[in-house]
Amino acid sequence: MLYDLIIRDALVIDGSDTPGYRADVALGDGRIQRIGDLDDVSAREEINAAGRVLAPGFIDVHTHDDTVVIRQPAMLPKITQGVTTVIVGNCGISASPVSLAGDPPDPMNLLGPAAAFVYPRFSDYRNAVDAARPAVNVAALIGHTALRSNHMDDLFRTARADEISAMRGQLRDSLADGALGLSTGLAYASAFSAETDEVKQLAEELTAFGAVYTTHLRSEFEPVLEAMDEAFAIGRHAKSPVVISHLKCAGAGNWGRSPQLLASLENAALTHPVGCDCYPYAASSSTLDLKQVTDAFPITITWSTPHPDQGGRELKDIAADWDLSLEDTARKLQPAGAVYYGMDENDVQRIMKHPLSMIGSDGLPEDPFPHPRLWGAFPRVLGHFSRDLGLFALHTAVHKMTGLTATRFGLHDRGFVREGYCADLVLFNADTVRDVADFKEPRRAAEGIDAVWVNGHLSYAEGKAQGERQGRFLPRSGSLVGGFDSVGPALAGKASAATAQN
Ligand code: ZN
Ligand code: CU
Repeated sequence: MLYDLIIRDALVIDGSDTPGYRADVALGDGRIQRIGDLDDVSAREEINAAGRVLAPGFIDVHTHDDTVVIRQPAMLPKITQGVTTVIVGNCGISASPVSLAGDPPDPMNLLGPAAAFVYPRFSDYRNAVDAARPAVNVAALIGHTALRSNHMDDLFRTARADEISAMRGQLRDSLADGALGLSTGLAYASAFSAETDEVKQLAEELTAFGAVYTTHLRSEFEPVLEAMDEAFAIGRHAKSPVVISHLKCAGAGNWGRSPQLLASLENAALTHPVGCDCYPYAASSSTLDLKQVTDAFPITITWSTPHPDQGGRELKDIAADWDLSLEDTARKLQPAGAVYYGMDENDVQRIMKHPLSMIGSDGLPEDPFPHPRLWGAFPRVLGHFSRDLGLFALHTAVHKMTGLTATRFGLHDRGFVREGYCADLVLFNADTVRDVADFKEPRRAAEGIDAVWVNGHLSYAEGKAQGERQGRFLPRSGSLVGGFDSVGPALAGKASAATAQN
């Protein structure tokens, strides 16, 4: 048979957390058709990888790309990193199903202005993604805060029974239309007043679908362990796998506690499918939150609606100019966005290294001065953390951004270089791959990402987008509970082994 493409002499790192092996890989009909020594096989096109790494396209497990995949479908911040699939709808905020009465409540404004929210049903969003045909595949969670904003006149209280049943109906319809699960952002004021029971009742809708519960915890500061317990209780109640979003020890008073957090995660993993995602930086970014304003570490303002000229400046410098306290300055800047240098590098590395963690960018594509994770998260893990610091093997880095993620989120024919799987692939140079985006110049494409294929089509090479965009909407492809069960015990075993070494 004549294949579409043969990639010859690649170091195949297949996504399964095992070392790479040299092989030729043949693609046809958008899928990986054969892997091996394919000297006797021909294709319409051939390329010589010359020993460079061929890995599954990276899955960005934590994004806020909900509306940008439609409005700027070239998705350059992601495809330049080797990302071929984004999971949207994290932290309780999703573009759909949403019917706004006015401006989007904080932090839904991270997804764009009111005009960007034009998907009253999840099926509207799904159709819009397919029509826009972004450069990367898109799978989506439903945000709790989005549901609250649809059905509650006041977000600063817990929901009443009639509101909960209306939210449940919308969540159920969305899951039936292919949503992956439910996300919450309980730390944000717009969801903080929701009692655990409100979330538990919503999460009951996940059970029948075997769908996932992901959460930006109620606190990442001192009460983080209690917040993790709440997340596990919600997941157990719904018999639903739990993914803790961007697990971290936030705030100077919390530094050094990552072993406690990871012990809690491992303990929960013994009896329930749980995991987490993280981004490879010691600074976070979101809307400007008065509760997080402090002089314990620097805070940079990335945007401000009333004072757009202050974007890119340090909060304390603005406060000095205005002769105001940090708090009053922040209040005057709102609504605004910020980067908080509020983590300890040792905690970041310990969480990133843990076998239960996946890599996600948490990038904010609407931000005029974005945190560099938007353009740099994946190459930073491959280059800086794996190659330069030796934090873990390259195949482990790849696993955390491909096979582990696909398994956790039930993307059943992606995330691995295997015969029959979808041909989402990235070819990179293990010696040179690196993130270039930094806090001063955050919009810079990575180096060392040589070629990216999405659904079998070359989509990025030589520093440029190639061909027509090939991404698709990816519906939930079955119950996650089975997939989780099969990896749960193995992961739990690895997790305790990793802790024993620490
Ligand atoms: Zn978040
Ligand atoms: Cu997020």
